[in-house]
Amino acid sequence: MYSYQDVLAEVLIDETTLQKRVKELGEEISRDYQNEDIVFICILRGGVVFLIDLMRHVTVPNQIEFMAVSSYGVGTRKSNGEVRITYDLNTNIEGRNVIIVEDIVDSGNTLNAVIQVLSTRNPKSLCICTLLDKEDRREVEIPIRYCGFVIPDKFVYGYGLDLDDYFRNLPFIGVVDLEKLEKIKGKK
Ligand code: IMP
Ligand code: MG
Repeated sequence: MYSYQDVLAEVLIDETTLQKRVKELGEEISRDYQNEDIVFICILRGGVVFLIDLMRHVTVPNQIEFMAVSSYGVGTRKSNGEVRITYDLNTNIEGRNVIIVEDIVDSGNTLNAVIQVLSTRNPKSLCICTLLDKEDRREVEIPIRYCGFVIPDKFVYGYGLDLDDYFRNLPFIGVVDLEKLEKIKGKK
């Protein structure tokens, strides 16, 4: 297995900047939902690191739930528009304030499908909180209520986002050098 340094083009968002923004988002959510309570629905697995840091800055009553969807063809880095729920919620969200927590919105296909499914369950409110937004890649319009950072169209990893299912633990967001990655893989 290669190391993250082997394929790092640049650090896009450092740890301090990330943590500061996540705290701001948690505080904003706390202000917006005063006298309410929330169920955060984290999309596995990319959203986990963000959720765990975010929720510690939220001061209103909240619960967490998880959902997993598969949207990528095996071995590709492009969403194909086909989204399947592979793990569903364990709770009834009818009448609840739902905030979907996601690592990144790219084409928008994944969250579009998730929103459609969750809407049919009659939540009191439903919105999206994403750490990253690759705005230029959007294929379907989806409403994003909370966004950490708008980023350029580059493949990124760390802080929940994976490269070949690794490196989710990095405390920063890095850009993958795809040429270096191809070379490393070619050698195998
Ligand atoms: P979408 O359906 O195209 O919006 O894809 C969203 C999902 O693709 C995200 O939840 C991520 O899991 C994955 N994804 C998109 N861009 C990246 C990236 O740059 N790095 C890692 N995962 C990504
Ligand atoms: Mg994801």
